[in-house]
Amino acid sequence: MKALVKNYIGGRWVGAQAGRTFDSRDPATGEVVGRCVDSGPEDIEEAVNAAVAAADGWRRLPAPRRGEILFRVAERLIRDKDTLARTVTREMGKVLAEGKGDVQEAIDMAYYMAAEGRRQFGLVVPSELPDKSAQCVREPVGVVGLITPWNFPIAIPAWKAFPALILGNTVVLKPSPETPVTAALFVKALEDCGAPPGVVNLVLGSRAELGEALVRHPTVALISFTGSTATGGKVAVEAASRFKRTALEMGGKNAIIVMEDADLDLAVDGIIWSAFGTTGQRCTACSRVIVHREVKERLTRMVLTRMATLSVGNGLKPGMDVGPLVSHAQLERVQQYVQVGQEESARLLTGGKALSEGEYATGHFFAPTLFDRVTPSMRIAREEIFGPVLGLIEVTDLAEAIAINNDVDYGLSTSVYTRDINRAQRAMRDIRTAVVYINAGTIGSEVHLPFGGMRRTGNGHREAGQAALETFSEWKTIYVDYSGRLQRAQIDKE
Ligand code: UN1
Repeated sequence: MKALVKNYIGGRWVGAQAGRTFDSRDPATGEVVGRCVDSGPEDIEEAVNAAVAAADGWRRLPAPRRGEILFRVAERLIRDKDTLARTVTREMGKVLAEGKGDVQEAIDMAYYMAAEGRRQFGLVVPSELPDKSAQCVREPVGVVGLITPWNFPIAIPAWKAFPALILGNTVVLKPSPETPVTAALFVKALEDCGAPPGVVNLVLGSRAELGEALVRHPTVALISFTGSTATGGKVAVEAASRFKRTALEMGGKNAIIVMEDADLDLAVDGIIWSAFGTTGQRCTACSRVIVHREVKERLTRMVLTRMATLSVGNGLKPGMDVGPLVSHAQLERVQQYVQVGQEESARLLTGGKALSEGEYATGHFFAPTLFDRVTPSMRIAREEIFGPVLGLIEVTDLAEAIAINNDVDYGLSTSVYTRDINRAQRAMRDIRTAVVYINAGTIGSEVHLPFGGMRRTGNGHREAGQAALETFSEWKTIYVDYSGRLQRAQIDKE
């Protein structure tokens, strides 16, 4: 029997106070990946207290010293990349190459934020008064709560924890109940690389009350959340009534626009990767292809041909392209959307069903699915599905394509395939999503650039890059008057 996966609070691995457990299962095989402690609000309380106790020591540690810990974490993650990637694949199903990508994203973020230990630039500006200086410095927000999803079980905790830590915040991480084992390995790396007790705390659990307790806790100053728009909305309401900061990263309904002058082979590569990579379970996944009518038939045939070559199966097996969906609930959701599409008279060209024969019997596999004759008002063209389901929407020009792209509740990522530089420029100007790709798919953001979304995808914040520093810090403006007399801003002026 494998060891119980525990909470990490105040520098110790501890059980949940109520003594409950839950299992994390492999979505391909149904096997138990780890038995984990199932915490309650009382465990959140303990974790927040530990984070409070560690806060002053951590914020006073020079930022370059904090950075050294993150450099060591990067190197540790490199050393353990294969093991971590296998755990990612076993817990949530993405194919192994993508599991490695997930770990790599955490490594990239560790290096990037480690280097911020020697930057975190502030401002020094002239004062309007003589013998007076003015400066602006970043300081930590305090104890931050991180609520993370299962689809990037190591990258997203890293995107949130590393900027939070380099800026001197202490952290309580509440990962998705689908991926607790990966989260525990992530926190173990921080422990082993020298994060002091209480600086990073981990609370595992399967109950909704756990996240709620973190969001409602009076001492938690900021909640950084990635997940569904429905849950993010609840976080926003709970947090707003407590004057708490939130950074919300939520759903998407991302499109690839293919113009008639596009390199269609390249476009097909981008479509297949963006729609079926991670089994469509990315907030940046492409679920709409908005295609010029002149090339629509040809593109459709090419996409179908490529879809027929996709290998669906256990992500640990070599050569697989598409792993299982994360859970039975997710599979049911995807199945329901296929039904909705059919009821809306979209035409199902391929897929549309769960795979359950033979090697698929133990897992939550779903056939890559393509709908034709999708119109912009259909639910499958407007709602986030989070599965391997793609719809084709026909248009007559770029302006129509952009209008359809923009006319959804979400605003995360869009790509445009065209060889016409004027069209590309117009698209870059007029597309209303926070990430735009020209001649590349909708997925694959890099850690040193801001990431997030407009409208119901986000609440104005961006993750990653320099933007992450804004989320996890407060600006403090400091005036020093060395004149030795009262000087009055705005008043002492003839
Ligand atoms: C998410 O799915 O929640 O660019 C974020 C990408 C990823 C972002 C994933 N790095 O597709």
